[in-house]
Amino acid sequence: MTADRFDAVDDYLSDLFVGNDAALERTLASSRAAGLPPIAVSEVQGKLLHLLARTRGARRVLEVGTLGGYSAIWMARALPSDGALISLEIDPGHAAVARENIAAAGLSQIVTVVVAPALESLAQLRAQAVDPFDLIFIDADKPNNPNYVRAALDLSRSGTLIVVDNVVRGGAVIDASSDDPSIIGTRACLEFMAREKRLQTTAIQTVGHKGYDGFALALVI
Ligand code: SAH
Ligand code: DHB
Ligand code: MG
Repeated sequence: MTADRFDAVDDYLSDLFVGNDAALERTLASSRAAGLPPIAVSEVQGKLLHLLARTRGARRVLEVGTLGGYSAIWMARALPSDGALISLEIDPGHAAVARENIAAAGLSQIVTVVVAPALESLAQLRAQAVDPFDLIFIDADKPNNPNYVRAALDLSRSGTLIVVDNVVRGGAVIDASSDDPSIIGTRACLEFMAREKRLQTTAIQTVGHKGYDGFALALVI
């Protein structure tokens, strides 16, 4: 089975289950035009995040890593009109592109993009004692993933879902002697999630438009 086949199947599935979507297509096109890296979640992964938010009855979503706003738009569309999605982004240029895309999608009332290193923003949210989030999507710098999951727990309640993107990285995750900080961070994150009594966690390998990768899904108990 080749990467071409995995791509073709993702084409087929995203045609069926996502189809044409002007706001999402605009988001990818403007992100590309602005020179952002093409690393947003795939179409069908975006829809999975949307469905998880709806299944959870989410009103409050936290995202770590905005890029051009693609995954934020998918999740924000799952929220009621008085819901809130806070997305943390370190790069002001990425945030500017995202805010335009979010506005064009009609979601500016729901989505707030906060520009700072995410660990700082997470500490601020904690200090402000904000209401807990129902869904937390972690998709930024991988070396910090253990820190992000710890911070996410502090901003959670029983029933919060935590999703961590890119936990397989072409299979590199099983290399215990890797000196790649992203792999070290991902392994430390998964091992923390496995140990942490407040989490029930699984992880799923994926193929398709994002290559061979995977995501972890945890329920806060
Ligand atoms: N969730 C997006 C993709 C995010 S790509 C989507 O699927 O559409 C990862 C993003 O994390 C990039 O925009 C990058 O600038 C941002 N990032 C990297 N390090 C960060 C940090 N320390 N704090 C906040 N954001 C960071
Ligand atoms: C990269 C980051 C991501 O969040 C992703 O989904 C794919 C690739 C990267 O940094 O290469
Ligand atoms: Mg990702």
